[in-house]
Amino acid sequence: MTRVICVANQKGGVGKTTTALNLACAVAMTGRKTLLVDLDPQCNATTGLGMQPSERHALVESKPLRESFAETNQPNLWLLPGARSFEDVDALANSSDTRSLMLATHLSGSLGSFDAVLIDCPPSLGALTRTALASASEVLMPIQCEYFAMEGLTQMIEVIRQVIGRSNSRLEFGGILLTMHDAALELTAEVDRDVRDFFGEIVYQTVIPRDVAVSEAPSHGRSVIDYAPRSRGARAYVELCQEVLERV
Ligand SMILES: Nc1ncnc2c1ncn2[C@@H]1O[C@H](COP(=O)(O)OP(=O)(O)OP(=O)(O)O)[C@@H](O)[C@H]1O
Ligand SMILES: [Mg+2]
Repeated sequence: MTRVICVANQKGGVGKTTTALNLACAVAMTGRKTLLVDLDPQCNATTGLGMQPSERHALVESKPLRESFAETNQPNLWLLPGARSFEDVDALANSSDTRSLMLATHLSGSLGSFDAVLIDCPPSLGALTRTALASASEVLMPIQCEYFAMEGLTQMIEVIRQVIGRSNSRLEFGGILLTMHDAALELTAEVDRDVRDFFGEIVYQTVIPRDVAVSEAPSHGRSVIDYAPRSRGARAYVELCQEVLERV
């Protein structure tokens, strides 16, 4: 069964795209056929892999989705590129529940040939994120080790519950990932403690350190694992991949 991991958090800049992209690369490196789906109109996952956004998002076109899977320069890794087109964003964002469910069916019905799929979501709980959740088998929520890290999480969890109840009973709460972790900071230690106290075992043991190599890699169109394989950030994403693959 294809594992479809939706990387979501309505807060912006918490490391969703960085995690979706680098985790997809790490999974692909284990030999698993992997797809990264860019559902964010910012198209950061697409450009971060050195690829071009499409004119129109494949999800709102009528041709089979597989015709839009683009090969990347990394073995075993394909990309469903994002689109900046406002028309598409509108079409997706204003879609009714029924339309959103149709999109989710269209998406999930096309993923069977992959071992793993990572979906990068925009920073909102709108129709795009709901479509992604409705197509997924699990949700991975990155949390930035900053003030207000847990803000909005109850809303997010409520939306996940709604999706499970209405359209996707196979969706599971996959895990919470602490990103931009700086062990030397008291604030990081506090957030780490609070999140683990509150959520317990679903918080990944692996944390992603704040590392400049992680933020530089996308400007070279590469994952950090490819760009700086020995960096702390690269090693953390490889470790996260092992933890993710061991769960379930
Ligand atoms: N571990 C890290 N160390 C250093 N910088 C990081 C790290 N993770 C992410 N960043 C940087 O932080 C910024 C936000 O990360 P990212 O784009 O992944 O967040 P996002 O949640 O996808 O944002 P958005 O909500 O806008 O889609 C980026 O500039 C990224 O390069
Ligand atoms: Mg993003």
